[in-house]
Amino acid sequence: MAPIRDGIAALTDGGVEAVAALASEVWHAHYPGIISDAQIKYMLVQRYDPAVIRGELARPDVWWFVLHEGGVLAAYMALQLVAAAAMKVDKLYVKPALQRRGLGGRLLRHAAAVAREAGCGVLELAVNRGNVNAIAAYGRHGFSVREAVVKDIGGGFVMDDYVMVRKLDGK
Ligand SMILES: CC(C)(COP(=O)(O)OP(=O)(O)OC[C@H]1O[C@@H](n2cnc3c(N)ncnc32)[C@H](O)[C@@H]1OP(=O)(O)O)[C@@H](O)C(=O)NCCC(=O)NCCS
Repeated sequence: MAPIRDGIAALTDGGVEAVAALASEVWHAHYPGIISDAQIKYMLVQRYDPAVIRGELARPDVWWFVLHEGGVLAAYMALQLVAAAAMKVDKLYVKPALQRRGLGGRLLRHAAAVAREAGCGVLELAVNRGNVNAIAAYGRHGFSVREAVVKDIGGGFVMDDYVMVRKLDGK
């Protein structure tokens, strides 16, 4: 059994379907108006098909975490080592009814701890340029915009993102 800290545990095989279901809930609640319904469906399959998540659980450079609150799956996060000194927060999603209660911040503190243990000096992430709430949340948690990037993700879709970074020295 993976150790649980602050309600946070490593995602295990048995929890994959629940994460995929939570992803669908959050994405359909949050992304309309930011990306098209077709892109939401496309990206959910591309990133959250249980076989895709299980493939990532087997990788040495990717870490998935879940946060339970009151027995409920409240949030999830995936980290990926993208360079010798940089850990990417590849996914961070909180159940709509539980947003803005510090759970995202708790997971980001965990991300910082995992990154430091891996010898990283920087946390980075990509966030859609229209996702103003998340950009505000990341700003509140110490990230700042480094650059804008447009990435082709296939299917005729692009990700139109800001890359945000946070140095890990200090707190
Ligand atoms: C973005 C997200 C991960 C942040 O996690 P969270 O638990 O909601 O945020 P926290 O409670 O840790 O941080 C709160 C701070 O972030 C900012 N913030 C969070 N949600 C916000 C919102 N809806 N509008 C404006 N600011 C917001 C505020 O500065 C807030 O501080 P305050 O409440 O004291 O003003 C979460 O809201 C979420 O999953 N959003 C929808 C999906 C998403 O966009 N994920 C990120 C993809 S890159």
